[in-house]
Amino acid sequence: MEKFLIRGGSVLEGSVQVSGSKNSSLPILAATLLTRDPCVIRRVPDLSDTNYMTQILTQLGASVERASGTVKVTAEKVRHLAPYELVRKMRASICVLGPLYGRLGKCTISVPGGCVIGDRPIDIHLRGLQELGATIETKGGDMHLKRGRTRAGAASSGREVNMRGKHGPTVLGTDNLMMAAVLTPGTTIIEGAAAEPEVEDLAHFLTKMGARIEGAGTRRITIQGVKELHGTEHTVIPDRIEAGTFLVAGAIAGRKVTLKKANHHHLAAVIAKLRESGFEIDAGSREITIHGRDSWKGGTITTEPYPGFPTDMQAQFCALYALADGVSAVTETIFPERFMHLPELKRMGAHITREAATAIITGVPGLSAAPVMASDLRASAALVLAALRAEGETEINRVYHIDRGYEHIDEKLTHLGAAIERVQV
Ligand code: EPZ
Repeated sequence: MEKFLIRGGSVLEGSVQVSGSKNSSLPILAATLLTRDPCVIRRVPDLSDTNYMTQILTQLGASVERASGTVKVTAEKVRHLAPYELVRKMRASICVLGPLYGRLGKCTISVPGGCVIGDRPIDIHLRGLQELGATIETKGGDMHLKRGRTRAGAASSGREVNMRGKHGPTVLGTDNLMMAAVLTPGTTIIEGAAAEPEVEDLAHFLTKMGARIEGAGTRRITIQGVKELHGTEHTVIPDRIEAGTFLVAGAIAGRKVTLKKANHHHLAAVIAKLRESGFEIDAGSREITIHGRDSWKGGTITTEPYPGFPTDMQAQFCALYALADGVSAVTETIFPERFMHLPELKRMGAHITREAATAIITGVPGLSAAPVMASDLRASAALVLAALRAEGETEINRVYHIDRGYEHIDEKLTHLGAAIERVQV
């Protein structure tokens, strides 16, 4: 087990390179199961989550070669049974469901558990696959999917699948349906699709494999099934949540911080909120620079599906607003329970109350170091951000949560001048 020791007060300056997107790499790695040809994917970040995914691909029968950020997958033969031991460790492994169904017409995978940010149902995934003609049987904690008969007429008019849930569209549900539909005869129309850049990146990858997809990045995606797909090469998009997290680091403790290989178009809602708080941000074609300030205004945030303010940046903004002037309100509509960071921020002196899915944050002049516990990936990142400014040395335990989604975050922050140390416990 490892922990971070972070001494607050350093002023961050300089530039860091944004890694490839975790949430783009995971479904794209899964999509390599759709062809027997080799696929080469570049800028896959070195994270425990991407490592789990490559292990799952290997267990499913694919050959996987990894050389730093480049992963080559050849899924010549594929088993239909996803290993419980690995699937239970990472909720996102559910995204092998679509490609296994698409390639083999069947799949057995354990029912995913929940996680600290709340119950993680897959009812919409399953509803969509049933619309595609799948039959689903749940036994002994496993789900057994088999390709049934696609609804008559689907070949012409197309089957419409509504992927909207009470908390809006589903990202991995949209991914699963796209990956199942690309090899399902006929036309599939996904209504209420997720429009995240990572969904668009997956569609781009599938199209390069020979899939016929229109409308990715909008709420309505049309897929024309094809007989088979071929191998291809692809470079994943930059990680917009890592980039957003470093922008908040620059806001909380920076003089001038530049992110290289960042795509500011994917961060419009986040940059708008930082500008509302008074920060000057230069958004270039491949770089974003934030200029620090001694003080900043709070704000009001409601998380929404893309292109709205991302739930994956909510915790980081709670840390920013804890040190802002005035009172801020942060409402979480995607995962209403996603507030594991609040008790830990309060241990550091933040003034926060919670009313259902809204955190009311009254800014304080300063935070103080304390031993705190990392929990969900983004909650842990929020604690790192708060520690950068807190008086004294903050100890953050269970940093494996952070290593799931941030590639070498301690090295990158050290490069910017932060006093952060990773120690064995
Ligand atoms: C993806 O998770 C991301 N993970 C999450 O990022 C992100 O927070 C989330 O999308 C929302 O943007 C990856 O891409 C690997 P959803 P996903 O299905 O697809 C409900 C991170 O920190 N829902 O879009 O699993 C669900 O409970 C992670 O990098 C159903 O009700 O999330 C939630 O309330 C955390 N039924 C909402 O929809 C379903 O069948 C959105 O979830 C599916 C989802």
